[in-house]
Amino acid sequence: MHHEFDGILEINNQLPRWWTILFYICIVWALIYLLLFPGLGNFKGLLNWQSSNQGILSLAESKAAVEKNITDGVLNQYDREIAAANEAFEPIFDKYFATAIPDLINDPEALKIGQRLFSQNCSQCHGSDARGANSGFPDLTDNDWLYGGSPEKITETLLNGRNALMPAWLDSMGEDGIAEVVQYALSLSGRKVDDSLAEKGKDRFVVCAACHGADGAGNQMMGAPNLTDNIWLYGGSERAVTETLTHGRNGVMPSFKTTLGEKKIHLVAAYVYSLSHNK
Ligand code: HEC
Ligand code: HEC
Repeated sequence: MHHEFDGILEINNQLPRWWTILFYICIVWALIYLLLFPGLGNFKGLLNWQSSNQGILSLAESKAAVEKNITDGVLNQYDREIAAANEAFEPIFDKYFATAIPDLINDPEALKIGQRLFSQNCSQCHGSDARGANSGFPDLTDNDWLYGGSPEKITETLLNGRNALMPAWLDSMGEDGIAEVVQYALSLSGRKVDDSLAEKGKDRFVVCAACHGADGAGNQMMGAPNLTDNIWLYGGSERAVTETLTHGRNGVMPSFKTTLGEKKIHLVAAYVYSLSHNK
């Protein structure tokens, strides 16, 4: 380039022809692409293309379209893979489904499947070790049950889900009333409390007895926890219990009937049952 500085020459190397041609092709391609597909502000593109389900806008429409495809026999890749997997594994699930849960917990293969299903579907709430968390997710390994730990009860929990209702008491008791009943509730599990407050709280406990029982030992029909065992769903500190009573609690365990189906639920239920029965 006839330009030299301190012994260094500036040189113009021509780009290879193929590279230049490719470069111009890319520019043309980009322009065509921008015309066909959306991307420039409100411009919808000449093809009217959209990213979600090609023209289907609501979830209901989308579900209807999926069901229509299945009845019409138009299967997409995911449906085909699910169908193939179901066909391959159905006989295995059938075999386990015919075995009672107390027997299944002696079958390591069945528990392995149950554990995998648990990791995929349950661990985000109950933890990968199933020990739950003090934020309302029960420990499934401790043989202390809100709704009952028999194979039938566990299966019922998984099939239908559970929806607990612990009412809020701030409006009816006020902060002072809550402070009293908190002291009484804590005393039920043998904690050291303020006795004079607890004494007054005991009278207030009448309204609690309807669900938690007169002795506070809980009621599995409603999922009302046992308050005497020092196992806490939401934490047993004075602060946590005050929070529970002030604002109430509403723990929801989702139903897995449609997502997992009865046969897989049978295997996860066996896994859950094994956690407190296989020692
Ligand atoms: C979205 C969070 C969530 C997921 C996912 C979830 N659970 Fe739960 N589960 C809960 C909550 C919350 C409760 C407590 C409900 C209550 O407060 O009464 C619960 C309760 C239970 C109980 C009743 C425990 C008792 O003491 O009676 C069992 C059993 C259970 N879950 C098993 C499972 C299994 C197995 C799965 C996976 C198939 C699962 N859960 C998935 C949140 C979840
Ligand atoms: C309508 C039934 C009902 C009544 C009445 C009721 N509870 Fe509850 N209580 C429940 C249920 C159900 C739960 C579990 C909530 C959940 O799982 O989300 C619960 C949870 C609790 C907890 C949390 C336990 C834990 O392990 O974290 C405490 C503490 C408690 N109740 C105390 C009381 C007291 C004290 C009263 C009376 C002022 C009372 N409850 C009245 C149904 C009731």
